[in-house]
Amino acid sequence: MNFRDEIAKTISEGLNVTTNEVVEALEVPPDYALGDYAFPCFKFASKSGKKPNELAKELSETIKLDFVENIETKGAYLNFFIKAENVVENVLSEISEKKECYGSTNEGKGKTVVMDYSSPNIAKPFGIGHLRSTVIGNSIYRILKFRGYNCVGVNHLGDWGTQFGKLIVAYENWGEEKKLEKDPIKHLLDIYVKFHDEAKINPELDEEAREEFRKLENGNKKSLAIWEMFKELSLKEFEKYYAELNIEFDSNAGESFYNDKMDAAIKTLEKKVKTELSDGALVVELEKMPPFMLKKTNGSSTYHTRDLAAAIYRLTEYKADKLLYVVGAPQKLHFKQLFSVLGKMGHEESKFEHVDFGHFLGMSTRKGNIIFLEDVLDKGIELAKKIISVKNPKLKNKNEVAKMVGIGAIIFGDLSSDRVKDVEFDWDRILNFEGESGPYVQYTHARCCSVLKKSETEIKKTGLKWDKFTSEEELKLIKHLGSFENAIEQAAKQYKPSIIARYLLDLCGLFNSFYAKHKIIGSEEELLQLRLLLVDSVRTIIDSGLNLLGIKAPEEM
Ligand code: ARG
Repeated sequence: MNFRDEIAKTISEGLNVTTNEVVEALEVPPDYALGDYAFPCFKFASKSGKKPNELAKELSETIKLDFVENIETKGAYLNFFIKAENVVENVLSEISEKKECYGSTNEGKGKTVVMDYSSPNIAKPFGIGHLRSTVIGNSIYRILKFRGYNCVGVNHLGDWGTQFGKLIVAYENWGEEKKLEKDPIKHLLDIYVKFHDEAKINPELDEEAREEFRKLENGNKKSLAIWEMFKELSLKEFEKYYAELNIEFDSNAGESFYNDKMDAAIKTLEKKVKTELSDGALVVELEKMPPFMLKKTNGSSTYHTRDLAAAIYRLTEYKADKLLYVVGAPQKLHFKQLFSVLGKMGHEESKFEHVDFGHFLGMSTRKGNIIFLEDVLDKGIELAKKIISVKNPKLKNKNEVAKMVGIGAIIFGDLSSDRVKDVEFDWDRILNFEGESGPYVQYTHARCCSVLKKSETEIKKTGLKWDKFTSEEELKLIKHLGSFENAIEQAAKQYKPSIIARYLLDLCGLFNSFYAKHKIIGSEEELLQLRLLLVDSVRTIIDSGLNLLGIKAPEEM
């Protein structure tokens, strides 16, 4: 039974409004002491010409529901308390029936969301900012999918632009095949840096680079061949990271993909929006913002143009209802400009969303200032291996588990803070098995698996005595399990995986308090059955929640 729907049905009958309106208005209080559901009367009172307090009181006296223990009125709020045994039965039987689908919905059925995330720049190191975009984007993708949306994940590779003109000039002057083969990204970075140093003394190099990019845009074979090689070498390296992080995209259409679509995009734009020539560059003037540049003086495209073409492509080819851009906060202005131009073209601006995020602070590695993702991932795995070797020296598949724990720690370390804030990256904190970390959640999952294994009991699904659960630890834990869907809903609405990370930390905290106080194996038969079912439910939800974050849950660690 869905308590929320049942309560909404009854309220809506009394108010003469649709059930949906009430479902939308029902809240889940932050603390169970305030009830399981709360209904604010403000909006509905004004409709019926009553005072909110009066309406609340009136409703509380008329509503009768079998599964409701008590209805409290607090000012304009109605707080519903569901009978414990009903909650217990409802939550646990539903989890054991739906398993990893528990908490999923079909809210997004028929709606398509195109998500732009990761999007590193080729021929450059895969930076930490891109790691953030990758893991945040991947998690939001999983969350929206779980709510029934049709998601298209696009890795909008930075593989076009003036910088490739520079790189081609640099390669022709200082490139060395041997070095390129050995460590391609490092070598490309070195010659790119050299280009900038040299250009300070010899500004003609910049002119050469612009000319090279123009040649590239016009399809010059030789330039394209060099660019292809850069791209291939970079992708080979990036693929390694994506494999480690267990991430796949539906499309790898990067900026170069739009090379032959930009003129058409500008034409489409010009049907609705006035463009202007400003010092020879083609621009759209915007209110209270710098202009949106479509073409540079020499006719080359810009980051703006390519994003415009990409947006039009996504709207028409995928028939997208929503376009999300998971990109760091420094690009706020860029997206404001883009969305404003799309708005001028007649698109609803609410279709577009910049899901921004702050910086990762305090990370350093052996190669100096620039942080290489490879080093970060390797270090995470290595540290996890060390901890596991001490904690569980006999563990069989140590390397595999160390990978799940090390990578999981990095992902959780990122996703557990509100994305808009900067994240302090501290190895001790993110790998602390007892702290608010990925390994702590994974460890609780492994603990559940171990209890179930040790019990050597098959869990019954019928004839259970639900009213045997009476302790506060058990009831709180079960209620928290029951709020999984609500956490996912909030995470989806705000594009904040951190809400699920927080939910999981609380779940583990509640489970561990239960585990510390109550024996499971060795309790009398009826209680044993219930408690095993509870442990199994916690195991399922941790696994499912971690999966929504893009983290694996080992059974032993
Ligand atoms: N490659 C860009 C960068 O590293 C990010 C691209 C973000 N996506 C987009 N559609 N602009 O800054």
